Amino acid sequence: MNKTVIAHDASEMEEIGVELGSHVRSGFLVSVIGQLGAGKTTLVKGLARSLLITDVVCSPSYLLARNYTGRSGTVLHHIDAYRVASLDALAEVGLDVYLPPEAGVSVVEWPDNIDGLVEQSNIVVRIRVLENEAREITITQGEA
Ligand SMILES: Nc1ncnc2c1ncn2[C@@H]1O[C@H](COP(=O)(O)OP(=O)(O)OP(=O)(O)O)[C@@H](O)[C@H]1O
Ligand SMILES: [Mg+2]
Repeated sequence: MNKTVIAHDASEMEEIGVELGSHVRSGFLVSVIGQLGAGKTTLVKGLARSLLITDVVCSPSYLLARNYTGRSGTVLHHIDAYRVASLDALAEVGLDVYLPPEAGVSVVEWPDNIDGLVEQSNIVVRIRVLENEAREITITQGEA
């Protein structure tokens, strides 16, 4: 799945997340890169919906990670590395086991804060803020 698309608003961004969900499978690590407020969590909401997760997905910022189990049986590990400076820091709180995950799907916001994580990802999503509410989303298959 290598492509560039435009989301004109948050609901279109969520739909792109839904579509992305049909391209992930257990063991996948997905990096989502983009500035503050770019729409990373919005995309993850759509991805969660495609895995039949009915919980409300919100930013894990303060918890660093949240796990959701969907009716599809797939677990989604949503990790926010905004406040994380290294893999060691994540290992201290036991989150390194999700990078990559043994089972389920890991989605990481701010993966660029952790050396080598983007390169290790199966899918990399880059979000660029255009004018107004528009965002350009580039999805690339594993750089590993
Ligand atoms: N095209 C768009 N795509 C996504 N979000 C949009 C778009 N246009 C406006 N928004 C709004 O921008 C905000 C994006 O918030 P969101 O939490 O998804 O960003 P984020 O990249 O996860 O931010 P953070 O860096 O704080 O984690 C939401 O309020 C959303 O409604
Ligand atoms: Mg976010």
